[in-house]
Amino acid sequence: MKYKMKYLAMMQQGGNNNDNNDGNNITVSMTPGYATKLQELYPTTKYPQPTDAEIKQNYPLTYGELTYDAIAILAKYLTTISPNVVRHIVIDIGSGVGKLPLYTSGYNVVTRAIGIELVQARHNEAMQLLNNMRETYPNETSKVELINGDMLQQDYKALTGSQPALIWVSNLCFDDELTTRLFNKLAAELSPGTIIITSKTVQHPKITKLEDITVPMSWSNGSIVFVHIIIA
Ligand SMILES: C[S@@+](CC[C@H](N)C(=O)[O-])C[C@H]1O[C@@H](n2cnc3c(N)ncnc32)[C@H](O)[C@@H]1O
Repeated sequence: MKYKMKYLAMMQQGGNNNDNNDGNNITVSMTPGYATKLQELYPTTKYPQPTDAEIKQNYPLTYGELTYDAIAILAKYLTTISPNVVRHIVIDIGSGVGKLPLYTSGYNVVTRAIGIELVQARHNEAMQLLNNMRETYPNETSKVELINGDMLQQDYKALTGSQPALIWVSNLCFDDELTTRLFNKLAAELSPGTIIITSKTVQHPKITKLEDITVPMSWSNGSIVFVHIIIA
């Protein structure tokens, strides 16, 4: 409760201490035709498989996806929570075939849409989709950055330039220890005001849970996800 109070106080003071937020009266919009084109190119979930070497790294590599409707629901957190904060950077940690970074790059307020994926075959599929979208939408796709790597080896401060971001982690298959390791890293490297949405939650002194919402996934029409914020 004490963290929620601190968060509320921070938001009443205008969001956070960053100067580069300009959320007042910003309207979020999507490039016309962009989402439809992406859905035409990638209509149903694919399941590119990890190699034996990737499996040996002992991360949970089970695959499943957000639906497009779910991504649109999560995108509301680009601007809601505090009217004075716009989150211009989106990161999908464990991004699979890149649906979320690709989709969110179509929003006017998004300047960088980043995906980090360990499995090479999933990353390759994402690159293919990015290239196919690029032919019609060079501006939007220029915001997308797809990284084939380990989420625990990334420098999130460098990726976000210390701006508050919107983070999605589909961590239903992560155990509490792995989620705690990731939360420790995110809390240390990301700015206050950053929203972290996950499908499983753990307690963390600097990451406070704001609400639970239900979104449609590839495996379930109604899956609960947890919306958190990093506090100072
Ligand atoms: C359930 S899928 C989610 C895909 C996508 N984010 C979505 O929600 O539509 C989780 C992804 O996390 C990836 N993953 C697991 N451990 C990882 C790690 N250490 N670093 C990067 N990606 C990882 C898996 O390979 C898998 O593609």
